[in-house]
Amino acid sequence: MVLPHVILHLLTGLAASSITDAQRWEPRPTCWTCMSRGKILEPGIGINLELSYITAAIRYHNSSVRNIVRIEGTQEYKSLMRGLAVRDSRDAIYTSGEPWKAEHGLTSHSSNTEVNLDLAQHQLTPSLRDPAQIIGSLLCTLKASAKASISQPLSSALATFPNLPGLQYQVVSDAFDYAGIHLLNEGRLAPVAAASAANGLGLCETYAELDVCDVEEAQMAMKRVLAIDYTRAALTVTLSPFQASHNGFDWNEHRAWDLGADALLDREGVELDKYWQRVRDEVQKLPKKAQVGRPITHVLLTGESALDEAFLDVARDALSDVLPEAVALSFTQTSVMQMVSPLFAKARGAAELAKRKSESPDECVETAICRWWRKQIG
Ligand SMILES: *[C@@H]1O[C@H](CO)[C@@H](O)[C@H](O)[C@H]1NC(C)=O
Repeated sequence: MVLPHVILHLLTGLAASSITDAQRWEPRPTCWTCMSRGKILEPGIGINLELSYITAAIRYHNSSVRNIVRIEGTQEYKSLMRGLAVRDSRDAIYTSGEPWKAEHGLTSHSSNTEVNLDLAQHQLTPSLRDPAQIIGSLLCTLKASAKASISQPLSSALATFPNLPGLQYQVVSDAFDYAGIHLLNEGRLAPVAAASAANGLGLCETYAELDVCDVEEAQMAMKRVLAIDYTRAALTVTLSPFQASHNGFDWNEHRAWDLGADALLDREGVELDKYWQRVRDEVQKLPKKAQVGRPITHVLLTGESALDEAFLDVARDALSDVLPEAVALSFTQTSVMQMVSPLFAKARGAAELAKRKSESPDECVETAICRWWRKQIG
């Protein structure tokens, strides 16, 4: 039953990517105007929706990146994320944000709204709020506390969120609408892509000149990134091959909900040994399957619990058995300390990509005068 779906997914994926490639190599038109000074100087904000919390970071025009805030998820948010992971709740629960949109007199954008609404009225209990509203409420909290910290309103951001079967892009998009934050994404930004960008992997130098950036990206080395995400809620290991970071995706991913750091709390003795043995197996699973001749080139650490010493010891030991020596070595105590903060890495990468996006012309090539103008701005 699963197979045809997977094949269909692959086929549509391939079709989609060949169209984008074709489009990308068409010469871009010349831009009508130069970008305004305000737009060029504007900072980029990244938001990471995690399984049990949200983080945000800001990337300034002078290239410095700063962590803004981490907001712990409400119990409702945590249960929602957990629920979106265990079943494909697409049709059962999600209603494209229509209930609250109707309440707020906003127009509908989905063609099969009526069917969805019917379903929703039958299945939503009064206590079960719309997923977009649950996520949106937490985003409102984040927006309010970010305002003081960045001394400007948080009006737009690029978001990254986990690959959960029930968490569609539309849910996230509606949640941002709810919070009144303009979503800069054109599609899903995979957490591994954001974490890679935060660590400076696969970023082009000349990003404001799209054609030049394309050529740079095409010449980049292929990377195979193993991202290990350890939070109180789960242990997630992702393997992604890519050249440019923004193309990173959850090519292969394992999430163990029973191996989050919280699961350690009520364990001791043999139970504890079993836990660490399972963590070890989980960390080794994808590297063991990595094809011969296509070794993993980078290891990244993300998540609130990733710097837990017992965890690092186990992960380091597990990786030394299955990774090329040089890559495993990059995971020593000192190099881990040099990595971007695991708690904020995804938000920081999203902020970096947000800044690049808002500072770049919209699918056009600027004239020499515009480029001169940019140089004056610095
Ligand atoms: C970059 O700009 C921000 C915001 O203006 C400022 O707070 C920060 O100190 C600057 N960083 C550097 C390294 O100049």
